[in-house]
Amino acid sequence: MIYYKYNYYICNKNEKSMNEQVVNNPFVVGKYLSDKYFCDRSEETEFLRKQILNGRDVALISPRRIGKSGLIQHFFNQPDIQEKYYVFFVDIYATTSLAEFVYTFGKEIYGQLKPQAAVWKERFFQMVSSLRMGFKLDPITGNPSFDLGLGDIQTPQTTLDEIFAYIEEADKPCIIAIDEFQQIGEYAEKNLEALLRTKIQKCHRAQFIFAGSKRHVMSNMFNSPSKPFYQSAISMGLEPIPINIYSEFAIALFEERGRHIETEVIEQIWQQFKGYTWFVQMMMNELYALTSEGETCKFSIIEDARHNVILSQEQSYKDLLSNLPPRQKIVLQAIAKEGIAQNITSARFIKKYNLNSASSVQAAVKLLLKNDLLTQTDNGYRVYDFFLSEWLATVY
Ligand SMILES: Nc1ncnc2c1ncn2[C@@H]1O[C@H](COP(=O)(O)OP(=O)(O)OP(=O)(O)O)[C@@H](O)[C@H]1O
Ligand SMILES: [Mg+2]
Repeated sequence: MIYYKYNYYICNKNEKSMNEQVVNNPFVVGKYLSDKYFCDRSEETEFLRKQILNGRDVALISPRRIGKSGLIQHFFNQPDIQEKYYVFFVDIYATTSLAEFVYTFGKEIYGQLKPQAAVWKERFFQMVSSLRMGFKLDPITGNPSFDLGLGDIQTPQTTLDEIFAYIEEADKPCIIAIDEFQQIGEYAEKNLEALLRTKIQKCHRAQFIFAGSKRHVMSNMFNSPSKPFYQSAISMGLEPIPINIYSEFAIALFEERGRHIETEVIEQIWQQFKGYTWFVQMMMNELYALTSEGETCKFSIIEDARHNVILSQEQSYKDLLSNLPPRQKIVLQAIAKEGIAQNITSARFIKKYNLNSASSVQAAVKLLLKNDLLTQTDNGYRVYDFFLSEWLATVY
């Protein structure tokens, strides 16, 4: 067994600019660095460009970890887009209320302004006066700094109005991506969809990309006639990167650094993880780490690599399970042991895993699906995270 300490990328920002960062491992996970480490998505980028240039908003919907956030960042990184627009990426995954939404939104807008001229920052606080209290002058440098706390959002609706008014004044058009958009359905405030829709409709200076992974929630928001966002955006799905294109990308990254990899190894990984980008990239990152300069990465190390990746995730899996009610935990493990589980309410399944009753299994599965721990395929249920599935079935 090969133990390896995880190190996705090390960059020395002081010495190198963003595009020429020193990247120890070219299979970057969890972050967008640049074109060089991003595989393809040229058609998807073109599609986004076309919609945005033609004034249409986009709803980007795909399963988790396929590459939605990465695609948006890649699109934002295109030179023509950078030049024509101000771009904002607002991730609302962790938000649970309008106040938190406004806080996250305001922070992103201000964060993007940081490198801009002082006059623009000053303008921000003139227009968004409800956030003025978070605006301070650094006592030493005299530079303005922004120390906004969630508690500063006293009147979220007012602040939201002000932020939109500010955007309306921008000297370039804006593109605002709201990632994990389905989250607004979970807020305590139930009218937010309607409120936001109205604001967005009136906003002429910005276009929107709404991204989300909960397909039924997202399609319901954009495709059902009774909903405020009905037909307000072009729907766009995202498929796994085709195997041959990914394979070429991965081989080139190995070769560039004097390493080799057999095509069959990449194809095997892609098949194992059904092309889901995050899992494939995690495996390739580890395979790269296990291959020294001049060496060829062979089939025989796939098992070790997978084992290492699973171990690297172990603590987060333990944390996850410790927060999971016992009934859900048992059902999750039972499904992991099956791989793909069919007839989960059958007497056979219940007896085999000592489960309580068909109705309790059903209730647990419903919650596990809602929280993205399970997914439903044509052949049955499976644990969404392939690594967690294996860990639950063999290690836990
Ligand atoms: N085209 C690509 N080339 C290389 N790596 C990619 C590509 N797209 C995504 N990735 C990597 O795959 C991982 C998953 O991508 P991303 O976070 O964009 O997925 P997502 O669909 O937004 O997932 P989630 O629904 O969980 O937010 C990221 O860590 C990213 O680094
Ligand atoms: Mg994402």
